Amino acid sequence: MCGIYCYVGKKKAIPIILEGLASLEYRGYDSSGIAYVTDKINIIKEKGKLSNLINLIDKNTDTYLGIGHTRWATHGSPNKINAHPHQQGSITLVHNGIIENYQELKKLLTEYSFKSETDTEVLACLIDKLYQESHNIIKVLAKLSELVKGSYALGIIVNDDLNSIYAVKKGSPLIVAKSDDGTFIASDIPAILKHTDKYILLNDNEIAHLTKDNITIYNERLNILNKKTYTYNGSIEDISKQDYEHYMLKEIYEQPEVIKNTLLPFLNNKQKLPNIKKYQKIHIVACGSAYHAGLIGKYLIEKYCHIETKVEIASEYRYQNNFINKKTLVIFISQSGETADTLACVKKVKNNCDTLGIINVIDSSIAREVKDVIYTNAGLEIAVATTKAYSCQVAILSLIAYYNSKTKNIINEFDNLINDLNKVLKNDYRKIADLIKDDEKIFYIGRGIDYALALEGSLKLKEISYINSVAYQAGELKHGTISLIENNTKVIAIVTDKELKDKTISNIKETKARGAKVIYITTTSLDEEGDFYDEKIIIPDNKLFQSLLTIIPIQLIAYYVAKARNCDIDKPKNLAKSVTVE
Ligand code: G6P
Repeated sequence: MCGIYCYVGKKKAIPIILEGLASLEYRGYDSSGIAYVTDKINIIKEKGKLSNLINLIDKNTDTYLGIGHTRWATHGSPNKINAHPHQQGSITLVHNGIIENYQELKKLLTEYSFKSETDTEVLACLIDKLYQESHNIIKVLAKLSELVKGSYALGIIVNDDLNSIYAVKKGSPLIVAKSDDGTFIASDIPAILKHTDKYILLNDNEIAHLTKDNITIYNERLNILNKKTYTYNGSIEDISKQDYEHYMLKEIYEQPEVIKNTLLPFLNNKQKLPNIKKYQKIHIVACGSAYHAGLIGKYLIEKYCHIETKVEIASEYRYQNNFINKKTLVIFISQSGETADTLACVKKVKNNCDTLGIINVIDSSIAREVKDVIYTNAGLEIAVATTKAYSCQVAILSLIAYYNSKTKNIINEFDNLINDLNKVLKNDYRKIADLIKDDEKIFYIGRGIDYALALEGSLKLKEISYINSVAYQAGELKHGTISLIENNTKVIAIVTDKELKDKTISNIKETKARGAKVIYITTTSLDEEGDFYDEKIIIPDNKLFQSLLTIIPIQLIAYYVAKARNCDIDKPKNLAKSVTVE
């Protein structure tokens, strides 16, 4: 949540920072701002998308140092005053995170007059106050974690040293990097790739001092550290939209390729899957779509491996009694590897049970905290609503379930999968999207694994088209929700499980009898004629990887509905891709 991008170097800073912020906009886009140095510190901020800020700034300004921010509001509404950077006394800073004890701190900082409603401004005052006492910013930043509760990644300019940028982090991600032209701070790696593929990961409580040609990193005891430099192993092409109108569409179409990249190392025995048979129970913990992928994992693990599996939303799990022991495996699923609630859950349980991460971003915070990690090779995902990363998570969970079961005939299933994914992607789902684009409520129903898909379908549609959709267990409809079905209510019914087919069709008929218009999604082998649907989508069968095929029309329907409604598909309102606050 919130993106930070700072630069000091030989080149003009403003275009570099604005470009960096553009690639971080997925982290928040309700306001943005920049502070840059000429003979003084200048601050420009604006409400709304980054383009609003860009319109206000002269990109040619003679400045070679600046700190930038794109915001997802937590404390205080998204307006110009609350936008970052915040300036108090000698300190100007940008912040990603949440200061939990900001009210307490504010009471101790009575000498300051606050302009904004943010927790960040309190931090600016606190740092300024400590700085006035010691005039040693490194020392002040090293002390910060003793005084501040919550999470922060900070980019800071100090009035007395306009040739430097300082950074510190706790809980929120931050990388530093150096190119031939200068040094950078960013909230993620892709943001610096135009300049260099080399980067350093900052750990909690480490402090970075950046000048135009040097980076020095200190630990909290003020010792200089010799940190490892990583090289990004993806491609800069990942950042391009190519010929697609939206990143989301591009990422949907990338699914055959990235699923292949994710599964092949395991199918070729180049990498090993975990032995989960030794555990008595499994917990899967995640947020958003990763939670929905976890639900699919539960169905498959319970079906193939007969291990009791529970899936929990991370923000709930972190405050529950978890009932874990050494015979429990907790699997954490996260595309970004930075989701604050998921990360907090890893920290909470990791000393009492085995932990496994299914993560997309290499060396992200969750990947570094878990005992074992499997990387999904989804590549860079830019659209806020996840598609390909979700599918790679499902692919890995399917394979884990299968490898830990008794019967194996995996290669055929896999060969068919990639061909069939390409086939399903070729179909045109625009007619179905047209049918529902003007509705204000939609139901997704299914049983078992199809219910998990219904949840993901409903979330996708809500996220990007703002249609109020709900997912329901088909058999549960009659216990309340069916009262909302009326003439012309659209019901998307998913039926891919042979065992549950007849039961679900009975539930579909119950909605039809009350006037619903049914879009029926099923597989070739389960297909049958009938008067219980209005539109039918037929998907090839695949025993193990069925969900990966079924989700494609569901994703594309959501995409085309959002497009027909003229929504900002890649950046839906109020959302952010990487949620680094609680
Ligand atoms: C946000 C995104 C979702 C994502 C969820 C979990 O809400 O908008 O698409 O599923 O976070 O993110 P993670 O990076 O942990 O998978």
